[in-house]
Amino acid sequence: MSDVYQAIANSSVGNKILSSLNLPIPAILDRYAPDQTSFIKGDVIVGAAPGSKAITTVLATLKGATEANLHTLAGLAAEADVQKAAGTAGVSVSNYTANKEDSQRFKGLVFDATGVSNTAELRALYDFFHPLTRKLGSCGRVVIIGRIPENCSLEQRIAQRGLEGLIKSLGKEIKKASIANLIYVDDGAEAQVASPLHFFLSPKSAYVSGQAVRVGAADFAADGFNWKKPLTGKTALVTGAARGIGAAIAEVLARDGAKVIVLDIPPMAEDLKKVASQIGGIALEGDITAADAPTKISAAAMEHGGLDIIVHNAGVTRDKTMAGMPDKFWDMVIDINIGSEERINAQLLKDGSLKDGGRIVCVSSISGIAGNMGQTNYATSKAAVIGMVQGMAADLLGRNITINAVAPGFIETQMTAAIPFTIREAGRRMNSMSQGGQPVDVAETISFFSSPASQGMTGNIVRVCGQSLIGA
Ligand SMILES: NC(=O)c1ccc[n+]([C@@H]2O[C@H](COP(=O)([O-])OP(=O)(O)OC[C@H]3O[C@@H](n4cnc5c(N)ncnc54)[C@H](O)[C@@H]3O)[C@@H](O)[C@H]2O)c1
Repeated sequence: MSDVYQAIANSSVGNKILSSLNLPIPAILDRYAPDQTSFIKGDVIVGAAPGSKAITTVLATLKGATEANLHTLAGLAAEADVQKAAGTAGVSVSNYTANKEDSQRFKGLVFDATGVSNTAELRALYDFFHPLTRKLGSCGRVVIIGRIPENCSLEQRIAQRGLEGLIKSLGKEIKKASIANLIYVDDGAEAQVASPLHFFLSPKSAYVSGQAVRVGAADFAADGFNWKKPLTGKTALVTGAARGIGAAIAEVLARDGAKVIVLDIPPMAEDLKKVASQIGGIALEGDITAADAPTKISAAAMEHGGLDIIVHNAGVTRDKTMAGMPDKFWDMVIDINIGSEERINAQLLKDGSLKDGGRIVCVSSISGIAGNMGQTNYATSKAAVIGMVQGMAADLLGRNITINAVAPGFIETQMTAAIPFTIREAGRRMNSMSQGGQPVDVAETISFFSSPASQGMTGNIVRVCGQSLIGA
Protein backbone atom coordinates (compact mmCIF):
# COMPACT_ATOMS: atom_id res chain seq x y z
CA MET A 1 0.00 0.00 0.00
CA SER A 2 1.40 3.43 -0.86
CA ASP A 3 2.06 6.07 1.78
CA VAL A 4 0.70 9.29 0.27
CA TYR A 5 1.82 11.40 3.25
CA GLN A 6 5.42 10.21 2.79
CA ALA A 7 5.32 11.07 -0.90
CA ILE A 8 4.04 14.60 -0.12
CA ALA A 9 6.57 15.05 2.71
CA ASN A 10 9.40 14.23 0.31
CA SER A 11 8.27 16.66 -2.41
CA SER A 12 9.91 20.09 -2.20
CA VAL A 13 6.69 22.05 -1.56
CA GLY A 14 5.24 19.43 0.79
CA ASN A 15 8.49 19.25 2.73
CA LYS A 16 8.50 23.02 3.32
CA ILE A 17 4.86 23.10 4.46
CA LEU A 18 5.09 20.07 6.77
CA SER A 19 8.41 21.24 8.26
CA SER A 20 6.94 24.68 9.00
CA LEU A 21 4.07 22.96 10.81
CA ASN A 22 6.56 20.81 12.74
CA LEU A 23 5.00 17.64 11.33
CA PRO A 24 7.08 14.47 10.88
CA ILE A 25 8.94 14.00 7.60
CA PRO A 26 9.19 10.25 6.96
CA ALA A 27 12.53 9.92 5.15
CA ILE A 28 12.99 7.50 2.27
CA LEU A 29 14.86 4.54 3.77
CA ASP A 30 17.97 3.11 2.12
CA ARG A 31 17.17 -0.49 1.21
CA TYR A 32 19.41 -3.29 0.00
CA ALA A 33 20.04 -3.65 -3.74
CA PRO A 34 21.60 -6.93 -4.90
CA ASP A 35 24.11 -5.07 -7.09
CA GLN A 36 25.65 -3.22 -4.16
CA THR A 37 29.20 -4.33 -3.69
CA SER A 38 29.82 -3.25 -0.11
CA PHE A 39 27.42 -3.98 2.76
CA ILE A 40 28.16 -0.51 4.15
CA LYS A 41 29.45 2.39 2.14
CA GLY A 42 31.14 5.51 3.53
CA ASP A 43 33.04 6.47 6.65
CA VAL A 44 32.71 4.16 9.62
CA ILE A 45 34.19 4.94 13.02
CA VAL A 46 34.93 2.21 15.51
CA GLY A 47 35.74 2.44 19.17
CA ALA A 48 36.09 0.19 22.18
CA ALA A 49 36.12 0.26 25.94
CA PRO A 50 39.40 -0.92 27.50
CA GLY A 51 39.61 -4.70 27.75
CA SER A 52 37.00 -5.32 25.03
CA LYS A 53 37.34 -8.50 23.02
CA ALA A 54 35.09 -8.19 19.96
CA ILE A 55 37.00 -5.40 18.24
CA THR A 56 39.17 -7.70 16.10
CA THR A 57 36.07 -9.44 14.70
CA VAL A 58 34.45 -6.05 14.13
CA LEU A 59 37.42 -4.88 12.09
CA ALA A 60 37.81 -8.20 10.26
CA THR A 61 34.12 -8.00 9.31
CA LEU A 62 34.48 -4.42 8.15
CA LYS A 63 37.42 -5.49 5.99
CA GLY A 64 34.76 -7.05 3.76
CA ALA A 65 33.07 -3.65 3.35
CA THR A 66 35.11 -2.66 0.35
CA GLU A 67 33.61 0.83 0.12
CA ALA A 68 33.98 1.77 3.78
CA ASN A 69 36.76 3.94 5.18
CA LEU A 70 37.61 3.03 8.73
CA HIS A 71 38.46 5.44 11.53
CA THR A 72 38.78 5.46 15.26
CA LEU A 73 38.35 8.32 17.68
CA ALA A 74 41.59 9.97 18.75
CA GLY A 75 41.98 10.26 22.50
CA LEU A 76 39.74 7.31 23.37
CA ALA A 77 41.14 5.29 26.29
CA ALA A 78 41.31 2.16 24.12
CA GLU A 79 42.69 3.89 21.01
CA ALA A 80 45.86 1.78 21.06
CA ASP A 81 43.81 -1.43 21.45
CA VAL A 82 41.78 -0.52 18.35
CA GLN A 83 44.97 0.08 16.34
CA LYS A 84 46.43 -3.21 17.56
CA ALA A 85 43.24 -5.05 16.54
CA ALA A 86 43.39 -3.32 13.14
CA GLY A 87 46.89 -4.76 12.69
CA THR A 88 45.63 -8.25 13.56
CA ALA A 89 42.63 -7.90 11.24
CA GLY A 90 44.83 -6.48 8.46
CA VAL A 91 42.91 -3.24 7.97
CA SER A 92 43.96 0.34 8.06
CA VAL A 93 42.21 2.60 10.57
CA SER A 94 42.87 6.32 10.61
CA ASN A 95 42.60 8.50 13.71
CA TYR A 96 39.76 11.02 13.66
CA THR A 97 39.94 13.97 16.03
CA ALA A 98 36.48 15.12 17.01
CA ASN A 99 35.75 18.60 15.77
CA LYS A 100 32.34 20.21 16.07
CA GLU A 101 33.04 22.53 13.16
CA ASP A 102 34.07 20.06 10.47
CA SER A 103 31.61 18.68 7.95
CA GLN A 104 32.65 15.05 8.47
CA ARG A 105 29.69 12.66 8.44
CA PHE A 106 29.84 8.97 9.38
CA LYS A 107 27.71 6.21 7.94
CA GLY A 108 28.39 3.97 10.91
CA LEU A 109 29.36 4.29 14.57
CA VAL A 110 30.42 0.94 16.05
CA PHE A 111 31.46 0.52 19.68
CA ASP A 112 32.76 -2.60 21.38
CA ALA A 113 31.62 -2.41 24.99
CA THR A 114 32.40 -6.01 25.91
CA GLY A 115 35.13 -4.75 28.25
CA VAL A 116 32.70 -2.69 30.34
CA SER A 117 32.61 -4.44 33.69
CA ASN A 118 30.85 -1.93 35.95
CA THR A 119 28.64 1.12 35.69
CA ALA A 120 31.54 3.58 36.09
CA GLU A 121 33.10 2.13 32.95
CA LEU A 122 29.96 2.95 30.96
CA ARG A 123 31.59 6.38 30.72
CA ALA A 124 33.58 5.02 27.75
CA LEU A 125 30.33 5.04 25.75
CA TYR A 126 29.67 8.68 26.58
CA ASP A 127 33.23 9.54 25.52
CA PHE A 128 32.66 7.90 22.15
CA PHE A 129 29.08 8.84 21.33
CA HIS A 130 28.97 12.38 22.73
CA PRO A 131 31.27 13.91 20.08
CA LEU A 132 30.09 11.62 17.28
CA THR A 133 26.29 11.36 17.46
CA ARG A 134 25.71 14.64 15.60
CA LYS A 135 28.13 13.45 12.95
CA LEU A 136 26.02 10.47 11.95
CA GLY A 137 24.77 10.92 8.38
CA SER A 138 21.33 9.99 7.03
CA CYS A 139 20.37 6.30 7.06
CA GLY A 140 23.25 5.94 9.50
CA ARG A 141 24.03 2.86 11.56
CA VAL A 142 24.90 2.65 15.25
CA VAL A 143 25.94 -0.71 16.66
CA ILE A 144 27.07 -1.46 20.20
CA ILE A 145 28.50 -4.83 21.18
CA GLY A 146 28.16 -5.97 24.77
CA ARG A 147 28.16 -9.07 26.94
CA ILE A 148 25.01 -11.18 27.53
CA PRO A 149 23.93 -9.72 30.90
CA GLU A 150 22.47 -12.99 32.27
CA ASN A 151 25.87 -14.66 31.85
CA CYS A 152 27.86 -11.94 33.64
CA SER A 153 28.83 -11.39 37.26
CA LEU A 154 26.45 -9.03 39.08
CA GLU A 155 28.46 -5.81 38.63
CA GLN A 156 29.02 -6.43 34.95
CA ARG A 157 25.44 -7.59 34.43
CA ILE A 158 24.09 -4.30 35.76
CA ALA A 159 26.32 -2.25 33.48
CA GLN A 160 25.73 -4.40 30.40
CA ARG A 161 21.97 -4.31 30.88
CA GLY A 162 22.28 -0.53 30.83
CA LEU A 163 23.35 -0.69 27.20
CA GLU A 164 19.77 -1.52 26.18
CA GLY A 165 18.55 1.79 27.56
CA LEU A 166 21.34 3.59 25.76
CA ILE A 167 20.71 1.99 22.37
CA LYS A 168 16.95 2.50 22.55
CA SER A 169 17.35 6.16 23.42
CA LEU A 170 20.01 6.74 20.76
CA GLY A 171 17.65 5.12 18.26
CA LYS A 172 15.09 7.77 19.10
CA GLU A 173 17.57 10.65 18.96
CA ILE A 174 19.48 10.01 15.75
CA LYS A 175 16.55 10.59 13.32
CA LYS A 176 17.18 10.92 9.53
CA ALA A 177 16.18 7.25 9.02
CA SER A 178 19.15 6.07 11.08
CA ILE A 179 19.02 3.00 13.30
CA ALA A 180 20.75 1.82 16.48
CA ASN A 181 21.06 -1.81 17.60
CA LEU A 182 22.86 -3.87 20.22
CA ILE A 183 24.64 -7.21 19.88
CA TYR A 184 25.14 -9.10 23.14
CA VAL A 185 27.83 -11.75 22.72
CA ASP A 186 29.03 -14.48 25.05
CA ASP A 187 32.64 -14.55 26.22
CA GLY A 188 34.55 -16.64 23.68
CA ALA A 189 31.88 -16.32 20.96
CA GLU A 190 33.14 -13.00 19.53
CA ALA A 191 33.70 -14.48 16.03
CA GLN A 192 29.92 -15.02 15.79
CA VAL A 193 29.34 -11.27 15.82
CA ALA A 194 30.05 -11.18 12.06
CA SER A 195 26.49 -12.06 11.00
CA PRO A 196 24.54 -9.58 13.15
CA LEU A 197 27.15 -6.91 12.45
CA HIS A 198 26.73 -7.40 8.69
CA PHE A 199 22.97 -7.20 9.08
CA PHE A 200 22.79 -4.17 11.35
CA LEU A 201 25.33 -2.18 9.31
CA SER A 202 23.74 -2.95 5.96
CA PRO A 203 20.57 -1.49 4.39
CA LYS A 204 18.91 -4.88 5.02
CA SER A 205 18.05 -3.69 8.54
CA ALA A 206 16.44 -0.43 7.31
CA TYR A 207 13.35 -0.77 9.57
CA VAL A 208 14.99 -2.50 12.56
CA SER A 209 16.01 -0.23 15.42
CA GLY A 210 16.36 -0.32 19.19
CA GLN A 211 16.83 -4.10 19.18
CA ALA A 212 19.16 -6.29 21.22
CA VAL A 213 20.18 -9.74 19.94
CA ARG A 214 22.05 -12.43 21.84
CA VAL A 215 24.85 -14.41 20.22
CA GLY A 216 26.40 -17.54 21.65
CA ALA A 217 29.19 -19.93 20.70
CA ALA A 218 28.97 -21.71 17.33
CA ASP A 219 31.29 -23.22 14.79
CA PHE A 220 30.57 -20.76 11.97
CA ALA A 221 33.77 -19.39 10.40
CA ALA A 222 33.44 -16.24 8.31
CA ASP A 223 36.54 -16.92 6.15
CA GLY A 224 35.42 -17.41 2.55
CA PHE A 225 31.71 -17.23 3.41
CA ASN A 226 29.51 -16.07 0.54
CA TRP A 227 27.70 -13.09 2.10
CA LYS A 228 26.05 -12.22 -1.23
CA LYS A 229 24.37 -15.64 -1.53
CA PRO A 230 24.32 -16.90 2.05
CA LEU A 231 21.59 -19.49 1.45
CA THR A 232 23.20 -21.24 -1.52
CA GLY A 233 22.34 -24.95 -1.47
CA LYS A 234 19.60 -24.50 1.16
CA THR A 235 15.95 -25.52 0.84
CA ALA A 236 13.30 -23.43 2.57
CA LEU A 237 9.55 -23.64 3.05
CA VAL A 238 7.50 -20.50 3.67
CA THR A 239 3.86 -20.67 4.79
CA GLY A 240 1.33 -18.01 3.73
CA ALA A 241 3.56 -17.09 0.80
CA ALA A 242 0.98 -16.17 -1.86
CA ARG A 243 1.07 -12.48 -0.96
CA GLY A 244 2.21 -9.83 1.49
CA ILE A 245 5.06 -10.56 3.84
CA GLY A 246 5.17 -14.26 2.92
CA ALA A 247 5.70 -13.52 -0.78
CA ALA A 248 8.48 -11.08 0.12
CA ILE A 249 10.14 -13.69 2.36
CA ALA A 250 10.07 -16.22 -0.49
CA GLU A 251 11.60 -13.67 -2.88
CA VAL A 252 14.39 -12.68 -0.50
CA LEU A 253 15.27 -16.27 0.44
CA ALA A 254 15.43 -17.13 -3.28
CA ARG A 255 17.50 -14.03 -4.00
CA ASP A 256 19.89 -15.18 -1.28
CA GLY A 257 20.33 -18.54 -2.99
CA ALA A 258 17.71 -20.87 -1.47
CA LYS A 259 15.35 -23.22 -3.28
CA VAL A 260 11.95 -22.19 -1.88
CA ILE A 261 8.73 -24.16 -1.44
CA VAL A 262 5.86 -21.70 -1.07
CA LEU A 263 2.68 -22.80 0.68
CA ASP A 264 -0.75 -21.20 0.87
CA ILE A 265 -4.43 -22.16 0.97
CA PRO A 266 -6.10 -23.46 -2.24
CA PRO A 267 -8.16 -20.26 -2.83
CA MET A 268 -4.81 -18.44 -3.20
CA ALA A 269 -3.51 -20.96 -5.76
CA GLU A 270 -3.20 -18.48 -8.64
CA ASP A 271 -1.20 -15.96 -6.62
CA LEU A 272 0.88 -18.76 -5.14
CA LYS A 273 1.83 -20.10 -8.57
CA LYS A 274 2.83 -16.60 -9.65
CA VAL A 275 5.18 -16.24 -6.66
CA ALA A 276 6.62 -19.71 -7.30
CA SER A 277 7.25 -19.04 -10.96
CA GLN A 278 8.83 -15.63 -10.28
CA ILE A 279 11.41 -17.15 -7.96
CA GLY A 280 11.85 -20.54 -9.62
CA GLY A 281 10.29 -22.16 -6.56
CA ILE A 282 7.74 -24.89 -5.87
CA ALA A 283 4.06 -24.18 -5.07
CA LEU A 284 2.40 -26.31 -2.41
CA GLU A 285 -1.32 -25.81 -1.80
CA GLY A 286 -2.68 -26.60 1.62
CA ASP A 287 -4.23 -25.32 4.80
CA ILE A 288 -1.73 -25.44 7.68
CA THR A 289 -4.54 -26.23 10.13
CA ALA A 290 -5.63 -29.37 8.25
CA ALA A 291 -5.08 -32.59 10.20
CA ASP A 292 -2.75 -33.93 7.50
CA ALA A 293 -0.82 -30.65 7.03
CA PRO A 294 2.25 -31.68 9.08
CA THR A 295 2.71 -34.96 7.18
CA LYS A 296 1.98 -33.29 3.82
CA ILE A 297 4.60 -30.62 4.49
CA SER A 298 7.06 -33.22 5.67
CA ALA A 299 6.50 -35.33 2.53
CA ALA A 300 6.96 -32.30 0.27
CA ALA A 301 10.15 -31.44 2.13
CA MET A 302 11.51 -34.98 1.74
CA GLU A 303 10.82 -34.87 -2.02
CA HIS A 304 13.34 -32.03 -2.13
CA GLY A 305 15.93 -33.61 0.12
CA GLY A 306 14.62 -32.20 3.42
CA LEU A 307 14.36 -28.65 4.70
CA ASP A 308 17.12 -26.42 5.95
CA ILE A 309 14.73 -23.58 6.77
CA ILE A 310 11.06 -23.39 7.74
CA VAL A 311 9.41 -19.99 8.01
CA HIS A 312 6.10 -19.91 9.89
CA ASN A 313 4.59 -16.81 8.34
CA ALA A 314 0.91 -17.63 7.64
CA GLY A 315 -1.27 -15.71 10.04
CA VAL A 316 -4.67 -14.07 10.29
CA THR A 317 -6.46 -11.47 12.37
CA ARG A 318 -10.12 -11.63 13.42
CA ASP A 319 -10.38 -8.53 15.59
CA LYS A 320 -13.11 -8.07 18.21
CA THR A 321 -12.95 -7.11 21.86
CA MET A 322 -13.04 -10.10 24.17
CA ALA A 323 -16.63 -9.31 25.20
CA GLY A 324 -17.85 -9.25 21.62
CA MET A 325 -15.77 -12.04 20.13
CA PRO A 326 -17.49 -15.13 18.73
CA ASP A 327 -15.72 -18.36 19.72
CA LYS A 328 -14.97 -19.22 16.10
CA PHE A 329 -12.77 -16.08 15.86
CA TRP A 330 -10.83 -17.21 18.91
CA ASP A 331 -10.39 -20.79 17.72
CA MET A 332 -9.41 -19.85 14.18
CA VAL A 333 -6.74 -17.32 15.14
CA ILE A 334 -5.19 -19.54 17.80
CA ASP A 335 -5.10 -22.55 15.49
CA ILE A 336 -3.67 -20.81 12.41
CA ASN A 337 -1.20 -18.55 14.22
CA ILE A 338 0.25 -20.96 16.77
CA GLY A 339 -1.45 -24.38 17.06
CA SER A 340 -0.56 -25.40 13.50
CA GLU A 341 3.03 -24.22 13.97
CA GLU A 342 3.44 -26.40 17.05
CA ARG A 343 2.11 -29.45 15.18
CA ILE A 344 4.24 -28.83 12.07
CA ASN A 345 7.40 -28.32 14.14
CA ALA A 346 6.73 -31.51 16.08
CA GLN A 347 6.39 -33.52 12.85
CA LEU A 348 9.41 -32.01 11.07
CA LEU A 349 11.59 -32.55 14.12
CA LYS A 350 10.33 -36.06 14.75
CA ASP A 351 10.91 -37.38 11.25
CA GLY A 352 14.01 -35.30 10.48
CA SER A 353 12.47 -33.54 7.48
CA LEU A 354 13.92 -30.40 9.07
CA LYS A 355 17.59 -31.28 8.90
CA ASP A 356 20.06 -30.98 11.75
CA GLY A 357 21.67 -27.54 11.50
CA GLY A 358 18.30 -26.21 10.29
CA ARG A 359 16.52 -22.95 10.98
CA ILE A 360 13.02 -22.30 12.30
CA VAL A 361 11.94 -18.69 11.91
CA CYS A 362 8.55 -17.56 13.20
CA VAL A 363 6.54 -14.44 12.60
CA SER A 364 5.19 -12.95 15.82
CA SER A 365 3.92 -9.36 16.13
CA ILE A 366 4.37 -6.34 18.38
CA SER A 367 0.74 -7.02 19.35
CA GLY A 368 2.06 -10.14 21.06
CA ILE A 369 4.54 -7.99 23.01
CA ALA A 370 2.41 -4.97 23.87
CA GLY A 371 -1.15 -6.25 23.52
CA ASN A 372 -3.68 -4.40 21.41
CA MET A 373 -7.28 -3.35 21.90
CA GLY A 374 -9.53 -5.71 19.96
CA GLN A 375 -6.80 -8.30 19.47
CA THR A 376 -6.95 -10.59 22.51
CA ASN A 377 -7.01 -13.64 20.24
CA TYR A 378 -4.25 -12.39 17.91
CA ALA A 379 -2.00 -11.06 20.70
CA THR A 380 -2.40 -14.34 22.60
CA SER A 381 -1.35 -16.30 19.54
CA LYS A 382 1.61 -14.04 18.78
CA ALA A 383 2.82 -14.00 22.42
CA ALA A 384 2.53 -17.79 22.33
CA VAL A 385 4.84 -17.78 19.29
CA ILE A 386 7.41 -16.02 21.46
CA GLY A 387 6.84 -18.64 24.14
CA MET A 388 7.44 -21.39 21.59
CA VAL A 389 10.70 -19.81 20.40
CA GLN A 390 12.01 -19.29 23.91
CA GLY A 391 10.81 -22.70 25.05
CA MET A 392 12.29 -24.71 22.18
CA ALA A 393 15.64 -22.95 21.69
CA ALA A 394 17.65 -24.79 24.35
CA ASP A 395 16.36 -28.25 23.39
CA LEU A 396 17.30 -27.75 19.74
CA LEU A 397 20.89 -26.74 20.46
CA GLY A 398 21.99 -30.37 20.43
CA ARG A 399 20.87 -30.66 16.80
CA ASN A 400 22.35 -27.27 15.86
CA ILE A 401 18.85 -26.12 14.93
CA THR A 402 18.12 -22.50 15.75
CA ILE A 403 14.68 -21.00 16.38
CA ASN A 404 14.07 -17.26 16.33
CA ALA A 405 11.17 -14.91 15.69
CA VAL A 406 10.59 -11.57 14.09
CA ALA A 407 7.90 -9.33 15.51
CA PRO A 408 6.72 -6.91 12.84
CA GLY A 409 5.16 -3.59 13.74
CA PHE A 410 3.12 -1.77 11.13
CA ILE A 411 3.96 -3.28 7.73
CA GLU A 412 2.29 -2.08 4.51
CA THR A 413 0.25 -5.13 3.41
CA GLN A 414 -3.36 -6.05 2.71
CA MET A 415 -3.65 -6.98 6.40
CA THR A 416 -2.90 -3.41 7.51
CA ALA A 417 -4.78 -1.85 4.56
CA ALA A 418 -7.93 -3.31 6.13
CA ILE A 419 -7.44 -1.25 9.35
CA PRO A 420 -9.76 1.81 9.65
CA PHE A 421 -8.05 5.03 8.42
CA THR A 422 -7.40 6.87 11.70
CA ILE A 423 -6.10 3.81 13.54
CA ARG A 424 -4.02 2.93 10.46
CA GLU A 425 -2.42 6.40 10.33
CA ALA A 426 -1.62 6.27 14.06
CA GLY A 427 -0.04 2.81 13.72
CA ARG A 428 1.96 3.93 10.72
CA ARG A 429 3.43 7.10 12.24
CA MET A 430 4.04 6.15 15.88
CA ASN A 431 7.63 5.00 15.44
CA SER A 432 11.09 6.51 15.06
CA MET A 433 10.79 6.41 11.24
CA SER A 434 7.27 7.98 11.11
CA GLN A 435 6.30 5.42 8.49
CA GLY A 436 5.21 1.82 8.03
CA GLY A 437 7.72 -0.82 7.06
CA GLN A 438 7.70 -2.80 3.82
CA PRO A 439 7.28 -6.59 3.61
CA VAL A 440 10.89 -6.77 2.42
CA ASP A 441 12.07 -5.39 5.79
CA VAL A 442 10.58 -8.42 7.56
CA ALA A 443 11.92 -10.71 4.84
CA GLU A 444 15.49 -9.42 5.18
CA THR A 445 15.41 -10.08 8.94
CA ILE A 446 14.15 -13.61 8.33
CA SER A 447 16.89 -14.28 5.80
CA PHE A 448 19.43 -13.01 8.34
CA PHE A 449 18.23 -15.56 10.92
CA SER A 450 18.14 -18.26 8.21
CA SER A 451 21.78 -17.80 7.28
CA PRO A 452 24.44 -20.37 8.20
CA ALA A 453 26.32 -17.34 9.57
CA SER A 454 23.64 -16.94 12.27
CA GLN A 455 24.34 -20.34 13.87
CA GLY A 456 25.16 -18.61 17.16
CA MET A 457 21.77 -16.96 17.43
CA THR A 458 18.78 -18.78 18.90
CA GLY A 459 15.83 -17.82 21.06
CA ASN A 460 15.88 -14.23 19.80
CA ILE A 461 12.87 -12.04 19.15
CA VAL A 462 13.66 -9.11 16.88
CA ARG A 463 11.09 -6.43 16.26
CA VAL A 464 10.84 -5.08 12.73
CA CYS A 465 8.91 -1.99 13.68
CA GLY A 466 10.99 1.13 13.02
CA GLN A 467 11.17 1.39 16.83
CA SER A 468 7.43 1.59 17.34
CA LEU A 469 6.31 3.38 20.48
CA ILE A 470 3.89 0.53 21.11
CA GLY A 471 5.30 -1.86 23.68
CA ALA A 472 8.72 -0.20 23.46
N1 LIG B 1 1.13 -6.67 8.11
C1 LIG B 1 1.53 -6.35 9.32
O1 LIG B 1 1.62 -5.17 9.67
C2 LIG B 1 1.89 -7.42 10.32
C3 LIG B 1 2.30 -7.00 11.58
C4 LIG B 1 2.68 -7.96 12.51
C5 LIG B 1 2.66 -9.30 12.17
N2 LIG B 1 2.24 -9.67 10.93
C6 LIG B 1 2.23 -11.11 10.64
O2 LIG B 1 2.91 -11.34 9.43
C7 LIG B 1 2.39 -12.50 8.79
C8 LIG B 1 2.01 -12.17 7.37
O3 LIG B 1 1.09 -11.10 7.38
P1 LIG B 1 0.60 -10.32 6.08
O4 LIG B 1 0.38 -8.92 6.49
O5 LIG B 1 1.49 -10.61 4.93
O6 LIG B 1 -0.83 -10.99 5.89
P2 LIG B 1 -1.64 -11.40 4.58
O7 LIG B 1 -3.04 -11.57 5.03
O8 LIG B 1 -1.36 -10.44 3.47
O9 LIG B 1 -0.99 -12.80 4.21
C9 LIG B 1 -1.15 -13.94 5.01
C10 LIG B 1 -1.11 -15.16 4.12
O10 LIG B 1 -1.30 -16.31 4.94
C11 LIG B 1 -2.18 -17.19 4.26
N3 LIG B 1 -2.90 -18.06 5.20
C12 LIG B 1 -3.86 -17.71 6.08
N4 LIG B 1 -4.34 -18.79 6.71
C13 LIG B 1 -3.67 -19.85 6.21
C14 LIG B 1 -3.74 -21.25 6.46
N5 LIG B 1 -4.60 -21.75 7.33
N6 LIG B 1 -2.92 -22.06 5.76
C15 LIG B 1 -2.03 -21.56 4.86
N7 LIG B 1 -1.93 -20.24 4.58
C16 LIG B 1 -2.76 -19.40 5.24
C17 LIG B 1 -3.14 -16.25 3.56
O11 LIG B 1 -3.86 -16.90 2.52
C18 LIG B 1 -2.23 -15.16 3.07
O12 LIG B 1 -1.70 -15.43 1.80
C19 LIG B 1 1.21 -12.94 9.66
O13 LIG B 1 1.62 -13.96 10.54
C20 LIG B 1 0.86 -11.70 10.42
O14 LIG B 1 0.20 -11.97 11.62
C21 LIG B 1 1.85 -8.77 10.00
